[in-house]
Amino acid sequence: MIFKMKIYKFKSLTSTNDYMKEKFENFNEYDVVSAETQTKGRARCGNSWISQEGMALFTFMVKKREYYSLDDSHYIKIPLIAGLAVILGLKRIEDLKYMFKWTNDVYLEGRKICGILVEKVDDTFLIGIGINVNNTLPEEINKRATSLSHLTGLYYNIDEIINYVVEEFSILYNRFTKGEWIKILSEINSLNYLKGKEVTLKAGGKSFRGIAKDINYNGEIEIFTENGISCFSIGEIFEEKITILR
Ligand code: BTN
Repeated sequence: MIFKMKIYKFKSLTSTNDYMKEKFENFNEYDVVSAETQTKGRARCGNSWISQEGMALFTFMVKKREYYSLDDSHYIKIPLIAGLAVILGLKRIEDLKYMFKWTNDVYLEGRKICGILVEKVDDTFLIGIGINVNNTLPEEINKRATSLSHLTGLYYNIDEIINYVVEEFSILYNRFTKGEWIKILSEINSLNYLKGKEVTLKAGGKSFRGIAKDINYNGEIEIFTENGISCFSIGEIFEEKITILR
């Protein structure tokens, strides 16, 4: 069955997140705003997102349910669910070994292929996703990022990818609101890119070094530091190297 969603397509926008936020009242759940390019694409932590043609650049929204309210504790879980949705959606197009990098990224062959920016407006979450699909990354970032096309040499239908990702998200989000978080989390943990890697995490002006473990029930990453296991809900993992866990 084809998932029904409305997709509002633009040649260029400042940012699909900003557009949806400004015209917030006009959209329904799972309506999608997509753009071929963005002039002010935004990433997490106030960074900008370099928006190239050939990327999937889109935003959709989810609302609270009558039987399920959304609060700030979901803020950390929604990007994790969105990350899994991107992986499942991409797998329907090209079955590769995508990994989820806590908190908001999807990786392929050790490089970033997708970033996710979740923002909350009233009781609604806006989910902005940028996927490197048919684009060629600028040289200055191509050691850290890659695109689907770069790895396979093929050209992909961006609308189809967007459709699959939003559909996968809707399935996961229904499961989430019906109490299946633990099952979803274990699927996410099975794709946990950081697990077993030595990482340095910056949070609240401090640096913490250790070995990344699982993502816990609260959506926090567990890091095995010299002081034992610490859990982090925010922060920026800025360095990693592979360490074998015993
Ligand atoms: C990140 O890597 O920190 C998140 C990047 C999110 C980029 C997407 S592109 C579509 C949507 N519109 C934006 O301005 N940002 C998100």
